[in-house]
Amino acid sequence: MKPLTELLSNNHNKHIEELKELLRIPSISSLSDHKEDIQKAASWISNKLKSIGMEHVEIIQTKGHPIIYADWLYQENAPTVLVYGHYDVQPVDPIHLWETPPFQPTIRDEKIFARGATDDKGQMFLHIKAVETLLESEGKLPVNIKFCIEGEEEIGSPHLTDFLAQNKEKLSCDAVVISDTDMWDKGVPAITCSLRGLCALEVTLKTANSDLHSGMFGGGVQNANHLLVQLLATLHDSDGRVNVDNFYDDVIELTDSEKEEIAKLGFDEEKLKQSLGLSDLTGGEKNYPYRERISSRPTLEINGLWGGFLGEGTKTVIPNEAHSKITCRLVNNQKPEKIQELVKKHLEEYAPKGCIVNISLADTGNPFLTPINNPMIQKAAEAYKTVYGESPVYKREGGSIPIVSDFSRTLNVPVVLMGFGLPGENLHAPNEHFHLENLDKGILTICTFLELVGKEA
Ligand code: BES
Ligand code: MN
Ligand code: MN
Repeated sequence: MKPLTELLSNNHNKHIEELKELLRIPSISSLSDHKEDIQKAASWISNKLKSIGMEHVEIIQTKGHPIIYADWLYQENAPTVLVYGHYDVQPVDPIHLWETPPFQPTIRDEKIFARGATDDKGQMFLHIKAVETLLESEGKLPVNIKFCIEGEEEIGSPHLTDFLAQNKEKLSCDAVVISDTDMWDKGVPAITCSLRGLCALEVTLKTANSDLHSGMFGGGVQNANHLLVQLLATLHDSDGRVNVDNFYDDVIELTDSEKEEIAKLGFDEEKLKQSLGLSDLTGGEKNYPYRERISSRPTLEINGLWGGFLGEGTKTVIPNEAHSKITCRLVNNQKPEKIQELVKKHLEEYAPKGCIVNISLADTGNPFLTPINNPMIQKAAEAYKTVYGESPVYKREGGSIPIVSDFSRTLNVPVVLMGFGLPGENLHAPNEHFHLENLDKGILTICTFLELVGKEA
């Protein structure tokens, strides 16, 4: 029986080489050209799970990308922990801003650079390695373990919800644990206690039956681009609030003590402004502090806006079509489908004269909120404290992991969001990376967590 720390430092380089193999596979879930790469990544993970001693390893095909299942169930009297993660990644554009190619993992300054390094291949890998390390050290695990790793998180997990509902028994467990979020800062761990939900819409606005010459018709007919920006401008009021009727109806306001908790964390806004190259942080609602606005308040964002002529040079055209993509981040107890309908209704009602507006509805995901006094969360906190020497911060996350609320509702168990990413690791952006200091520490924290959960038995 070797101590875990010794095993981890002996295997450090081997772990990095293995992670690099996974990071070399361009498993971009949103691009159909990468369908084969998705399968490759799924095979890589299933082979890895087999090789570390996991059993019943399956690649489950769906109408979209496959789900990987595996288990190790030899601790009759101990709890069962289900590990969730995702092996799909975001597209890489703008590619010219990457210092080294996104699928050629490279180490610089004790960080590993590659698409997926932190979101989520790198973080998901920590769980595989934790299980391997425990099995190598002890020959057994302190708890029962199940893995459920998907390839569609970055496209809103369209097939996992149904899979969950149809496989409740297979996935039954005492807690779900996920590493797909951030720590608070270098050396300061965090447990995420809420995630925002999401809903998406697309707007198409049409005027005349074709583009028109602005010399012949300019001043006489409506311009689709103008009408669309007028329409979109009605979505917020001058205080930055979303101006859609009933949008805030189901929002749970923070209590004074919750607001204090957030303020006490002491977020450095000056440092953030500098790192973003901004002179102010004034997006969103006027009457809420920055940290609250980015985590505990809902938003509506125009993510894409196009129409008319975008090519080289000038074209004197009056466009007859304009488009926009919109998403809302939601908080408890907002329902994504209800918000979609409210926004749709608003856009139809405010549609300017002289055009036709078509709204299509896209992805949805529910918000998630968990009490932090849950014993499983407290064990995660203890594990962080043991390894990092610091108790974790409890953090409300502005991002979304759409399946989390389904896990908590369908399986009716606590979900522990123990992240090992760091703010500034550029997830979804060029030069995504993961700090190697959180590789061994992350694995060790997960091992410690599993041991603490096992002790309860
Ligand atoms: N891992 C992220 C969620 C996240 C974002 C955690 C920021 C911590 C900080 C996840 O992979 C993600 O990107 N989610 C998407 C969901 C969407 C594509 C359905 C998001 O939040 O935009
Ligand atoms: Mn992720
Ligand atoms: Mn992501």
